[in-house]
Amino acid sequence: MNVRKKLVAGNWKMYKTSREAQMFAQELEGYKNTLGKPNVEALICTPFTALYGLHDRLAQVYVKLGAQTMHEEIQGAFTGEVSAAMLQDVGCDYVILGHSERRQYFAESDAAVAKKALVALAAGIVPIVCVGETLSEREAGETRAVVSRQVNAVLELLQTRASQSGLSEAELVVAYEPIWAIGTGKSSSTSDAQDVAAWIRSLVKTALGEQTAERVRVLYGGSVKPENIKLYVEQPDIDGALIGGASLQPASFVALVEQVSVLS
Ligand code: PGA
Repeated sequence: MNVRKKLVAGNWKMYKTSREAQMFAQELEGYKNTLGKPNVEALICTPFTALYGLHDRLAQVYVKLGAQTMHEEIQGAFTGEVSAAMLQDVGCDYVILGHSERRQYFAESDAAVAKKALVALAAGIVPIVCVGETLSEREAGETRAVVSRQVNAVLELLQTRASQSGLSEAELVVAYEPIWAIGTGKSSSTSDAQDVAAWIRSLVKTALGEQTAERVRVLYGGSVKPENIKLYVEQPDIDGALIGGASLQPASFVALVEQVSVLS
């Protein structure tokens, strides 16, 4: 039996002010029946400035709240950074970590992403760790090697986790996002996405055991839209999607959730 609840996660990137985010939440009030389906979790990851005051608003329409990055240290002299405790304080349920844009433009390393994931879990925030290959890596046949390196960095740190406080390792979410598919309109074939998702689950099984592997959710991301989301999420190892562009309009976001809610 599949114990994994489907997750439809919007990544707003650097779009929307706090006011615009509040308006978005208000517009969702008309769609409560669709958003409140028990078999799907809906999530919006907003810019930092929109987080405050949004959690309760979104909870009323059955949507969870997330951030898009955080710092790996607990606190300290890190000008401009935001900690896990700060995200928890404003009601974040989730945090996206190691998105390819963070890795590419802000030089986030595998080691830093792994540490962030550990710190997030300890703070009771579910990490969505993003992994994926570039076009040239794919063409060179390196997809599995790249994804293994990125995922194993996190799994190895989780294996050595001393503290049992916060959430368990099984709460971890991994988002497979081939970089060439992000924001390009060129989505991966569903069979390729399923292959990589199954590969990721096998890495979790090797590192953390079968029970955890059955509970960890793997998402697909990269040019997902209401028209194609079902084709991905009906794959056996794909438990949802991480969506950029198509999550920015309320009607489109609701349509994404609706498409997934009809799957068993
Ligand atoms: P996209 O972005 O849906 O606009 O391709 C996905 C992402 O970056 O998470």
